[in-house]
Amino acid sequence: MQIHETIPGVRAALRTAGRIVFVPTMGNLHEGHITLMRQARAHGDTVVASIFVNRLQFRPGEDFEKYPRTFTADCEKLITAGVDHLFAPGETELYPEPQRYVVEPPAEHADILEGEFRPGHFRGVATVVMKLFGIIQPQAALFGKKDYQQFMVLSSMVREFALAVDIIPGETVRAPDGLALSSRNGYLSADERAVAPQLHRLLQQTVTAIRAGNRDFTSLESAAMTELRASGWLPDYLAVRRKIDLKSPTASDSALVGGLVVLAAARLGNTRLIDNLEI
Ligand code: PAJ
Repeated sequence: MQIHETIPGVRAALRTAGRIVFVPTMGNLHEGHITLMRQARAHGDTVVASIFVNRLQFRPGEDFEKYPRTFTADCEKLITAGVDHLFAPGETELYPEPQRYVVEPPAEHADILEGEFRPGHFRGVATVVMKLFGIIQPQAALFGKKDYQQFMVLSSMVREFALAVDIIPGETVRAPDGLALSSRNGYLSADERAVAPQLHRLLQQTVTAIRAGNRDFTSLESAAMTELRASGWLPDYLAVRRKIDLKSPTASDSALVGGLVVLAAARLGNTRLIDNLEI
C-alpha cells in the first residue's frame, strides 16, 4: 500500500489508476470500515482509502481533540484488506488556509435529526468530502449506512452537483450483541458497554412493531425513548422516517413499510452513539 501525505503526491500516483474506488474515513479503523474496503475492490481497479479527522465537522466541545488516532494499527488493517493507496494528509495540507468556500446542504436535510443536535456537522462533512473527491477524483465511493443521514446528504450532494461518482452503500457492521461498530464505542466504560446494545434492541423492537402493523409512530418513538431514559441514556431522538428524505411519514406513506427507517441518537455517560434500522 502506498501512503501519500500530500495532494500533488496522491494525484501523481493515481494518474494511471484506472477506475478509482474511494473510502474516506477518520481512522481508528474497525471491521465496519474494513468491510467497506473489501467491498470497494468489487467496484473498480484501484482502492483508495483516506484517513483525516476533519475539524470542520466537529463543533467546539465535541470530541475532535480526543478522537482516537491510531495510524500505525490502521495502516496494518488497510494493508491486510488489500487497499492500494492511503491518502493521509495533515491538517495544513488539506486546510492550508481557512476553508471559506463550503458546501451548504439544504436545511431540510442538514438541520434535522443529527443536524439538529450537531449544527453545522453536515456542512463540514459535505465540504471535506467534496474536497476529497476533487483530490482523489474517484469514479465510485463507499459510505456506510450506519451513518444513514450522512449517506443521504452525500448522495443528494453528488446528484445535485452532477458529480461523476457512484455512491455505494455499505451495510452496518455490528458486534455479536448487536452494537453497531463505531470508533466512539472505545469511550464506553465496561458498565456502559454492557448497556449499549440496548439501543439496537429498541430499534429492533420498534421495527418489529411496525412490521406487525402498528402505525402509531409517535407512541412507538416515545415508548422507546422512555425505555432508554429508564436505563440511564439521554436520548437526542428516536424517530421513524421515510428513507428517501428522512421526513416524517405521512398517513399515506405509512402503508409503504419498505420505505421507512428508524434512526436514533443517544448519550450514555459522555459517549454519544447513533444507530438505525431500515424496515
Ligand atoms: P468515519 O466515522 O471514520 O466512517 C468512515 C466510513 O465508515 C463512513 O462511511 C461510515 O458510515 C462507515 N462506517 C462506520 N461505522 C460503520 C459500521 N459499523 N458499519 C458500516 N460502516 C461503518 O463518516 C466519517 O468517518 C466521516 O464523516 C467522513 C465521511 C470520513 C468525512 O469526514
